[in-house]
Amino acid sequence: MTGPTAGSVGAGQTAIIGGTGLTELDGLTVQEERMITTPWGEPSGPVIRGDLNGHPVLFLARHGHPHRIPPHQVNYRANLWALREAGAARVIGVNAVGGITSAMGPARIAVPHQIIDYTWGRQHTYFEQGDGVEPLDGVTHIDFTFPYDESLRQALLAAAGRRQILAVDYGVYGATQGPRLETAAEVTRMERDGCDLVGMTGMPEAALAAELGLPYACLALSVNWAAGKSDHIITMEEIEQALAEGMSSVRAVLEEVIPALEA
Ligand code: HPA
Repeated sequence: MTGPTAGSVGAGQTAIIGGTGLTELDGLTVQEERMITTPWGEPSGPVIRGDLNGHPVLFLARHGHPHRIPPHQVNYRANLWALREAGAARVIGVNAVGGITSAMGPARIAVPHQIIDYTWGRQHTYFEQGDGVEPLDGVTHIDFTFPYDESLRQALLAAAGRRQILAVDYGVYGATQGPRLETAAEVTRMERDGCDLVGMTGMPEAALAAELGLPYACLALSVNWAAGKSDHIITMEEIEQALAEGMSSVRAVLEEVIPALEA
């Protein structure tokens, strides 16, 4: 099988979708907060247009601010639509995940390269009939062989490298429905399937970005060993501790990558 090719990232605004632990961006000077109504309903909150250390960026908190929308109830369609409307040329999704395979322990950053979707019942496509939406004139199946944009992935990895942050340069992201965590048997099955990471928000976000033609990549932060992968059950304290430890690296990668994407 051939791999994805990394073209140039091109200019234009970069949007960040902040997940758990990233409902706001330190160092962001807010210029505008715009609530954008879309044909798909309301996004999780306003799209924030601002400067991160002097570099323009768009930001949206996936779960709202404060954090209140559970993963299965996020309006992913409205979020991506609103970001495109605000002028996003590419999107970086920041996602907290559980680590399944050995490199993916708590507080580790990864830039996944593939996805397996285990979610169900989410509004996951723009290519369907809907209220207030133009009727479809045909059925569309987008190619999704390589779900993440390779140039954006490489830009994230290079940014991590420049800050001397160890970021795992691969990972199959298994997207689960939540909001509950998985059983040990589910994680064993996911590992057999080839998943390295498990999270609840990676899909349908990546596919919707692809449907809109927006280059998309995921910056994942492992906040716990997935169910059954350690000698204890998963606690919120453990997750919060890993978030506190790893989020500074996530912020550093974002600060480093935004100016690089302008070039
Ligand atoms: N499973 C699913 N989603 C997650 C996890 C997990 O273990 N940790 C953080 N998000």
